[in-house]
Amino acid sequence: MAQPETRSLQSDDNRFLHPWEDIDNIGQHRRTVVTEGEGVYITDSEGNRLLDGPAGMWCVNIGHRRQEMADAITDQIMQLTYVSPWSLTNAPAARLAEKLAQLSPGDLNHVFFTTGGSTAVDSALRFAMFRNNVLGRPEKKHVIARNKGYHGSTYLSASASGKARDKSFLDFKTDSFHHISDPNLFDKPAELSDQDWCARKVAELEDKIREVGPDRVAAFIAEPILASGGVILAPDGYHAACLEVCRRYDILYISDEVVTAFGRLGHFFASEEVFGIQPDIITCAKGITSGYVPLGAFLVSDRLIREIQEVESGAYFSNGFTYSGHPVACAAALKNIEIMEDEGILEHVREIAPYFQRQLRTLNELPVVADVRGVGLMACVECDINRGREQRLKLDYEIGNRIDKHCQKLGLLVRPIINMCVMSPPLIISRAQIDEMVNKLRQGIELAMADVERDGLWESD
Ligand SMILES: Cc1ncc(COP(=O)(O)O)c(C=O)c1O
Repeated sequence: MAQPETRSLQSDDNRFLHPWEDIDNIGQHRRTVVTEGEGVYITDSEGNRLLDGPAGMWCVNIGHRRQEMADAITDQIMQLTYVSPWSLTNAPAARLAEKLAQLSPGDLNHVFFTTGGSTAVDSALRFAMFRNNVLGRPEKKHVIARNKGYHGSTYLSASASGKARDKSFLDFKTDSFHHISDPNLFDKPAELSDQDWCARKVAELEDKIREVGPDRVAAFIAEPILASGGVILAPDGYHAACLEVCRRYDILYISDEVVTAFGRLGHFFASEEVFGIQPDIITCAKGITSGYVPLGAFLVSDRLIREIQEVESGAYFSNGFTYSGHPVACAAALKNIEIMEDEGILEHVREIAPYFQRQLRTLNELPVVADVRGVGLMACVECDINRGREQRLKLDYEIGNRIDKHCQKLGLLVRPIINMCVMSPPLIISRAQIDEMVNKLRQGIELAMADVERDGLWESD
């Protein structure tokens, strides 16, 4: 039985409409109340210490409770809390823009600050449409994205998202947003080589462009790795080939690096260093401040800015937020980047990631585990409880939640997505902590399967 303070907080929390709120159960929720964090661990209101397997939401990259971050944020508040970004500027925003221009690939030298990932994607899509208005081709506004992609929760970013389950109860812009299939190698028929699979997926993009009309497509948006879709990896060369197709039709390639930027794959930006591409626009958020305060951005190339300037239309990009370039958020981002550089956190990720991936792949031994995939410090353990069975079990959609419940009791937070457990710990994780994470996840999966066997929930199909 939870402590009275926990019960009181859980009761008050029923006033908080959480993301993806399950409306029927408002009033019944008893969410774990997290009260503290330190390094790769969080502690709940009952005093249980949990390894933070998802690093919050793929964001607490440098780990919880860094004094230097607290100092940088406090100092900035005491120096200057806020100034309008419309006609004025502030030192942290100016310095951060310059720093991001240095860290980003190619000529992505202009930075538009937003409040998070969704607003970064939304603003990037608006920029793609703005560009075509200025260039005098207002019909070139369509967007191509991928199934299982997640790009955010504003109208445009959610319209670009391709997760079918999320499309049931809200409205989306469907007249000008189109989706192609994701390139998951796990779905590749055995007889196809990786190259053939890649060629097939790239051809699908080109077919979609032809179907919609090259003169009508403004942008293609893709995560380098489909993150919340289940850490889906594309075959080698896929992104470069898609970029090549986009260039052929003057379609902007927007690389959504909200998850992959700031170290998760061992680099500040993954597009070029990991996937060999220089996109037209990169969106980022989350790890830019390691989740200490909200911030997002999109970076756009000199080429696109110049092209618009050359038209001399007097155009202005009438998009922006009260908190664009917020001094406190930008000061936090600068300190976060400084910590990553001074402490060699990216080098640590590159060094430890193979161990993380290897240890997680030992879970393939468990009969219920269908696939373990990932790169850098992001991975997905996909379960299939019907694997090898003649009868079908009902619980495939529940297995992730059951694993999560058991893991929480064992001291590990996982991020369950239906039948998948996504692991993306703080980047400072050590080998011993990786061992702890994998052992607890193994036990959690075994206990969840023992539940399933005991409950005997067989589907009568
Ligand atoms: C790839 C990607 N893009 C955009 C977003 C939206 O970011 P935010 O939740 O900060 O608005 C997310 C969030 O998880 C994401 O994973």
